[in-house]
Amino acid sequence: MTVPARTQVAIIGAGPAGLLLGQLLQLRGIDTVILEAKSPDYVLGRIRAGVLEEITVRKLREAGCGDRLAREGLVHHGTGIAFGGSLHRIDIQGLTCGKVVTVYGQTEVTRDLMHARESIGAQTVYEAQDVQLHDLTGTTPSVSWGTRHTLHCDFIAGCDGFHGVSRASIPKDSIRSFERVYPFGWLGVMADVPSLPELVYAHHERGFALCSLRSPTRSRYYVQVPLTDTVDQWSDARFWDELLQRVDPLTASRIVTGPSIEKSIAPLRSFVAEPLRYHRLFLAGDAAHIVPPTGAKGLNLAASDVHYLSEGFISHYRERCDLALDGYSQRALARIWKAERFSWWMTQLLHTFPDQDSFAPRLQQAELQYLISSETAQRLLAENYVGLPT
Ligand code: APR
Ligand code: PHB
Repeated sequence: MTVPARTQVAIIGAGPAGLLLGQLLQLRGIDTVILEAKSPDYVLGRIRAGVLEEITVRKLREAGCGDRLAREGLVHHGTGIAFGGSLHRIDIQGLTCGKVVTVYGQTEVTRDLMHARESIGAQTVYEAQDVQLHDLTGTTPSVSWGTRHTLHCDFIAGCDGFHGVSRASIPKDSIRSFERVYPFGWLGVMADVPSLPELVYAHHERGFALCSLRSPTRSRYYVQVPLTDTVDQWSDARFWDELLQRVDPLTASRIVTGPSIEKSIAPLRSFVAEPLRYHRLFLAGDAAHIVPPTGAKGLNLAASDVHYLSEGFISHYRERCDLALDGYSQRALARIWKAERFSWWMTQLLHTFPDQDSFAPRLQQAELQYLISSETAQRLLAENYVGLPT
C-alpha cells in the first residue's frame, strides 16, 4: 500500500495508545496514518501487564475490539494481599458498588487492535526508520521517515512510548518532567501452569511478590529483585523457590510450578511530563507518563488519555469546536496524577526498600495492618484499583 502524502492525524507509535486512538478516530471518519519504528511481531512480542479497568474495556468495545475480550477476558471481583503469613482478600466488587477488573493481556489487546485496524483498511507503516517531526508550531506540521517519505497532517499524536521521538521533539523550555526512580526491579516469569483464581500482591521481608495470570492455564509471577541482578542469575528453580518463600503458606500451597516460557527484569519508575501539548503535537500513553507496575495502571492510563484526546479531535473535526482539544492536557493530567499517586502508594506499601531507616518498615507494617482491619482503607484501594472516573 503506498502511503498518502497527507492525513488528518499522524500517529507516532503502534502500541496500545496509538492503535486505540487510530481506531476511535477512523471509526468517526477522521483519517489517520500510524508510523511505527518496529515490526508487528516485535510489537506483539513485548509482554506487559494484563488488568483492565472498566473504562479500558469500554473503549476497546467502542474500538470494535470487544468480542474476544468478552469471550476470553477473565472478570475478577477481588484481589489478595498477603503479608505476615496470611492472605487477606479485598472485595473489589463489594467495595465499589459492583465494579470489577478484567484480566486480559496487553499483547492480546494490541493484537485485537492491529486486526481491527487492518480490517477497516487504515494504514500503519511498520519499521519506519528515523521518524522526525517538523513544523510543530505552524498550521501544517509534517512527519518524515526513511530517506524520502513525508506525511503532511493537521496534528501529530505522540504515542511512541517513554523512549520515543515525540516528547524529545519538544524544546526543553516548553516541557517539564517529574520523576522518581525506585531502587529495585521486577523479575517476571510466564509459565504454562494452572493459575490462581485471583491476583495476590505479597509483602515479605525478602521483598515483594505478585501472582498474576493471563488465562486459567497461563500464569504470570513476579518477584522484586535488586537492579543489579540479571536474568541468567535466576534459574527457574531459584525463581520458584524465592516466590514460594515470599507468599503466604496458603497461596504457596496452591501455586503450580513449571518451566518458564519467558523471563525478564524491568526497572520501576514514576514519570510525568507536563504539559501534554506543544502546539500541534499531543502526547499520550507512555510517551507522557510512566507508572511502576504495582496496581497495573500503565495500559489503563494510556486508554484514558486516548479517551480524552479522541474526544478533542472528534469535536475539532465534527463540531469545529476546540474546547476539548485545548483542555486535553489539563484533563488528562488530573487523572494521570491520581494514578501516579496510587501506583506510588502501592509500590511503597508492598516493597522492601534497601538502605531505609528502622522506622520505615514499622510504618509499613502499621499501614498493612490498618488496611486489612479497616473497610474504609480497603475501599480506597478498591476504588483506585478499578479506576477513578474519567
Ligand atoms: N518512531 C516510531 N515509533 C516509535 C518510536 C519512534 N521514534 N519510538 C518508539 N516507537 C514505538 C514503539 O516501538 C512502540 O511500539 O511506539 C510504541 C509505543 O508503545 P508502548 O511503549 O506500548 O506505549 P503505549 O502505546 O503508550 O502503551 C502504554 O504500554 O508500557 C506499557 O505500561 C504501559 O501498558 C502501558 C502501555
Ligand atoms: C501482570 O499480570 O503482568 C500484572 C498484573 C498486575 C499488576 C502488574 C502486572 O499490578
